[in-house]
Amino acid sequence: MKLGLGLALSAAVFASPLQAQEYPAKEITVVVPFSAGGPTDTVARLVAQIMSEDLGKQVLVQNVGGAGGTLGAGQVAKASNDGYTLLLHHIGMATAPSLYKNLTFDSLEDFAPIGQITKVPMTIVARKDFEPADAAALWEHIKAEGENVTYAQAGIGSASHLCGTLLMNALGVKMTEVPYQGAGPAMTDIIGGQIDMICDQTTNTTNQIKAGEVKAYAVTTPERLEALPDLPTTKEAGLENVNVTVWHGLYAPAGTDPAIVARLQESLKKALQNETVVQRFADLGTAPVPQEDVSPESLQALVQEQIGVWKPILEPLAK
Ligand code: MLT
Repeated sequence: MKLGLGLALSAAVFASPLQAQEYPAKEITVVVPFSAGGPTDTVARLVAQIMSEDLGKQVLVQNVGGAGGTLGAGQVAKASNDGYTLLLHHIGMATAPSLYKNLTFDSLEDFAPIGQITKVPMTIVARKDFEPADAAALWEHIKAEGENVTYAQAGIGSASHLCGTLLMNALGVKMTEVPYQGAGPAMTDIIGGQIDMICDQTTNTTNQIKAGEVKAYAVTTPERLEALPDLPTTKEAGLENVNVTVWHGLYAPAGTDPAIVARLQESLKKALQNETVVQRFADLGTAPVPQEDVSPESLQALVQEQIGVWKPILEPLAK
């Protein structure tokens, strides 16, 4: 038995450097924990395309929606740590621990962070025939109408849920929340007029705002956006606490070979310097993070810091 164990161990040790040397030997799956066509999916597909070219193997995006992103994240946390199943997720990695009592994963222990990707502003938008003329009128309308206003979100722990929670908390009133598997299908219903409003990322609203398909009221960043210069900030509109930017990161399951993590980090850094990616991000109101933040250390520190930031804000609201 000992010999068997010894052989097994030596095979495992021997295999690891070989695996890393050959990596990638096959397609890589990047799980996006929201529906296709939404803001996270948009970021993932842009990055995956360039990483595929760099790595010489297809980097395929797989959408696993549900439970505000925690279903997909939990799936990757339990996946093989061979480097062929990754997770591209956002601020939900830091808010879910405060919102879910029985989370199926630990955001800090169950993943091997690869690097930060981008920080995306959010916009408060509504169906294009929504009555309120501007942000101040919108706040008054929500306070007057309360649960008669329908608010789309992508599940507890999603960015749209987080922004909506901040907005309702700031106004002291509850709207009727309508959950979706992602902001992609939610936007379809906003444009179709079935749902009144959403707070969603510019990667999913900029084109719709510019095309006049939705009515835009404010951005949730301290400063106005170059891509949407006429849109006031929530601070200008009197709600400075509705201040949220949606950061995104790429993760492998914990225990992934550091040499494989390093190869993925190198490829992600290249993707975020690619001119097409930079331009598409700019067109959508965002930008890649600085290259020094495309690192495991930077992403792990960000998740840790953000868990601490959102815990005192969300835990009282989650009761
Ligand atoms: C999405 O990609 O659908 C969004 O990130 C959902 C959300 O977080 O609101």
